[in-house]
Amino acid sequence: MYSFKDKYGEYLSLFEERLERFYAELKCRPQVLDESLKYSLKSGGKRVRPVLMLAAADLVGADREAVLDFALALELIHTYSLIHDDLPEMDNDDFRRGKPSNHKVFGTGNAVLAGDGLLNTAYYVLLCRCGDGVNFCEAAKFMCDCAGVKGMIAGQSADLYCAEKGIKDEKYLDYIVKNKTGKLISAAVAAPAILAGGRYFLELRQFGEDLGRLFQIVDDILDEEGSLEKLGKTSGKDREENKLTYVTFYGAEECRVLADVMCDKCLKILEGVQGDTQFLRDVVSFVRYREG
Ligand code: IPE
Ligand code: IPE
Ligand code: MG
Ligand code: MG
Ligand code: MG
Repeated sequence: MYSFKDKYGEYLSLFEERLERFYAELKCRPQVLDESLKYSLKSGGKRVRPVLMLAAADLVGADREAVLDFALALELIHTYSLIHDDLPEMDNDDFRRGKPSNHKVFGTGNAVLAGDGLLNTAYYVLLCRCGDGVNFCEAAKFMCDCAGVKGMIAGQSADLYCAEKGIKDEKYLDYIVKNKTGKLISAAVAAPAILAGGRYFLELRQFGEDLGRLFQIVDDILDEEGSLEKLGKTSGKDREENKLTYVTFYGAEECRVLADVMCDKCLKILEGVQGDTQFLRDVVSFVRYREG
């Protein structure tokens, strides 16, 4: 009998096993580098991107073992983005994943290096797979694009720019969210499609971007209404830091309506994909109704 929770748990354990192998291989010196990298990775998090990647791989028929390496690279990139996002010069957040942020424990310099180290290692993991064929190279390039200066980094840069200039504009908001959040979530579901020879690439890429938008709408609502205990990160920061977010632009009530619209959009896209999409449909609800 299918259960979303069990299936999520199954993907999660596959991924955690891959992470354990990674920890065993990764022994950095000096020790502070080793500790700071592992501190943030081991603090947990929902691991929604690797889980999505494994689910998309099952849907399009991509090889799981190979996809686990891509999932590892993606979670390394995501974790680096969180470490840097929390820095005093960015969002100035003291808590992450229920623990003090990386820079609060290791200092800003070490936190910058931990982030750099995770990003660099992610590319190493991807490059090691590129000899496996053209689809592997293409999937790796797609991931780099999503994470890079036309993707997540561009979104983060625009996020800082708008906060600093006090910009409250829908077009900027769209650009920020599409890039800072949408691109990595899109990479999670579209990279397996590339590995499977392009099967449902366009549909899954769009699904990922829309799910990313939903993800950020909910993140913004939780920042406004959630608590440190449930979120594992400080709430109320977006308003405090003058951020351009869904909530600061539309207000929380309209955000809930928008979130429902995005859910419908995601589900509509999945109607165009053959195969068992139940888990991905359930992820949409999970993202919509999560509390942390
Ligand atoms: C937080 O991502 C950053 C955003 C894109 C909003 P997650 O909510 O997936 O963070 P973890 O990995 O579960 O900690
Ligand atoms: C950041 O968005 C997304 C990233 C690329 C890290 P937020 O700044 O809203 O993420 P949280 O709320 O700190 O997790
Ligand atoms: Mg931020
Ligand atoms: Mg932040
Ligand atoms: Mg947030």
